[in-house]
Amino acid sequence: MLFDLTEEQKAVQQAARDFTQSVLKPGVIERDELQKFPTEEVKQLGELGFLGMMVDPKYNGGGMDTISYVLAMEELSKIDASTSVVMSVNNSLVCWGLEAYGSEEQKEKYLKPLASGEVIGAFCLSEPEAGSDATSQRTTAIDMGDHYVLNGTKNWITNGGTASTYLVIAQTDTSKGHRGINVLIVEKGMEGFTIGPKENKLGIRASDTHSLMFQDVKVPKENRIGEDGFGFKFAMKTLEGGRIGIAAQALGIAAGAYELALNYSKEREAFGKKISQHQAIQFKLADMATEIEAARMLCLKAAWLKDQGLPYGDASAKAKLYASKVAMETTVEAVQVHGGYGFVKEYHVERLMRDAKITQIYEGTSEVQKIVISRSVLKD
Ligand code: CAA
Repeated sequence: MLFDLTEEQKAVQQAARDFTQSVLKPGVIERDELQKFPTEEVKQLGELGFLGMMVDPKYNGGGMDTISYVLAMEELSKIDASTSVVMSVNNSLVCWGLEAYGSEEQKEKYLKPLASGEVIGAFCLSEPEAGSDATSQRTTAIDMGDHYVLNGTKNWITNGGTASTYLVIAQTDTSKGHRGINVLIVEKGMEGFTIGPKENKLGIRASDTHSLMFQDVKVPKENRIGEDGFGFKFAMKTLEGGRIGIAAQALGIAAGAYELALNYSKEREAFGKKISQHQAIQFKLADMATEIEAARMLCLKAAWLKDQGLPYGDASAKAKLYASKVAMETTVEAVQVHGGYGFVKEYHVERLMRDAKITQIYEGTSEVQKIVISRSVLKD
């Protein structure tokens, strides 16, 4: 068993670190406060090849492995989880599904500009009444022969306002239950497609989360991905990989908060010595370091399985469940280590604490991950 990264993987990690320090860090507090989408920063991410990292170069992708993707996600998320979620959704939920299941024409038309970062994409599954219970889709896509007519509302859509290409999951035949669900590629600007106001969120505030409304939107048949009725399986398969990205995001949030707490503990003095010399702080740092290392191993294991072509749904759920718990706990402790300074924006940890929470909610709540894991544990 080898734990070393390859030279290519180390180069990706370093490129992500450099990008984070020089491009993301300077404006991160302001973007969070003003809920300002990182337009220029995302454009530069595209130029780095980070928006279609794992896509085949023939479709404008970076041709990198999933381990490199985890490394980059961790680095970005240490500083700016609002930007890293844009990257994660575009890579895992949009580009991956299109490359794995799209037709050649769909890849030419939609995947290429998404993978190069010329445009970004959104994955539209959640609804006002279908969150964790994803089979209960109320959005309908009625088959009209050469096109579908789409009606309904999607909620909490990351990249909802800034995307150009939307993968929309909708019910075509209710009598078939989840086997009657399809996934359609919808373009911004299609008649009847409107975007609701931006959500005012607790965390990842610079990311762009919206409701989307579809009223009699005509979507050509050639925009359906896969066979009729493949939409629910498409969503589940896509989320398996998406959860690796969000696990890595949670890992990065935890690691970023830990690094801040570690450095602060070596500078701050109390009761006549650096606070790092107090056992109360040392024990916190020891717990954080151990849990982060364990979360990193789970993320890399899931990524490695995916890269080997082995099943990874159970591993990605475990990585997300654990890393998001570690993100929550570590960021709370990191604020505690900072004392009063941890409560003000300039020290960055309060933002990481707010950002951590969503990692236990999106791409399946912690409870959903436990459903996936327990089914795998009990299946034999
Ligand atoms: N791969 C392939 N097929 C799968 C699958 C997988 N991983 N998981 C389930 N399926 C198939 C099943 O085999 C079954 O098909 P058959 O009947 O043909 O065998 C079908 O899907 C239904 O499966 P279940 O009976 O297991 O479905 P369920 O209703 O019990 O729910 C669930 C399972 C795990 C709870 C699922 O609904 C789920 O994952 N929910 C959470 C949804 C989610 O993650 N939403 C996130 C929104 S996206 C987002 O957050 C993006 C963002 O903005 C960042």
